[in-house]
Amino acid sequence: MLKVEGLMVFFENALALNDFSMEVQEGELRGIIGSNSAGKTTLMHALSGLLVEIKIREERRGGERITILGRILYDGEDITSTRPPDRVRRGIVLCRERHPIFPESDVLENLRIAGCRIPGSQRKEGLELALRLFPQLAAHKGKKAGFLSGGEQQMLAISMALVARPRLLLLDEPLLGLSPFMQRHLVEAIGRIKEEAHVTILVAEQFARPILPFMDYAYVVENGMVTLSGRGPELMEDPEIKAAYFGV
Ligand SMILES: Nc1ncnc2c1ncn2[C@@H]1O[C@H](COP(=O)(O)OP(=O)(O)O)[C@@H](O)[C@H]1O
Ligand SMILES: [Mg+2]
Repeated sequence: MLKVEGLMVFFENALALNDFSMEVQEGELRGIIGSNSAGKTTLMHALSGLLVEIKIREERRGGERITILGRILYDGEDITSTRPPDRVRRGIVLCRERHPIFPESDVLENLRIAGCRIPGSQRKEGLELALRLFPQLAAHKGKKAGFLSGGEQQMLAISMALVARPRLLLLDEPLLGLSPFMQRHLVEAIGRIKEEAHVTILVAEQFARPILPFMDYAYVVENGMVTLSGRGPELMEDPEIKAAYFGV
């Protein structure tokens, strides 16, 4: 479904992604594991098209700071240079790091805002799907998003992405800053998005321990490079991974 071939991203002379190759098969949950500054968000922005958008905006202002080399293929088509709306139309939807929601609006309003550019019938389906997968949100439909707990805000952020009916959902550090209990709850919800809604998912995470066992495949990234990859349960047993990411 998704194939990344030798992706290189430079910010000025700094290399954020270095000859990065990976793929995702339809129906899978795959992961990108890496510490702070490894290049996870840069990859997510490259896949969602946000990086192309930022590059175009900077160039309009006269800068030439971002360089993107390599190829991103989706359903066999080269989408490396297409912009975010094109990718959303194709079903690639990103839920960004640190749940950007509208704190002054209630849950339902947030979901409606997320769906404002989605065609009517699709939006209704997406909204129903989100509320079915996150019953906790359905129970707080009228509550201001700013008053939700951190975990509920993260659920809302993911729901906002679901309203667009993704085929490939990109989640950038969905577990960040949540309690272990909430992390387990979210991991379970992510599993249901995959199994019940048949959405293919790519998750970037630093402290991946709670979700790694459920990953069909994961890539470990250091300094923008893949240093190790394998099936989630196998990586769970890897001594280097344990030392670097589990703190044992
Ligand atoms: N807009 C940007 N301008 C300059 N450097 C950036 C920008 N975004 C990311 N970087 C650099 O790229 C590297 C990877 O960052 P990032 O993708 O955010 O890592 P992660 O999400 O894994 O923490 C870092 O060294 C970071 O400083
Ligand atoms: Mg990041």
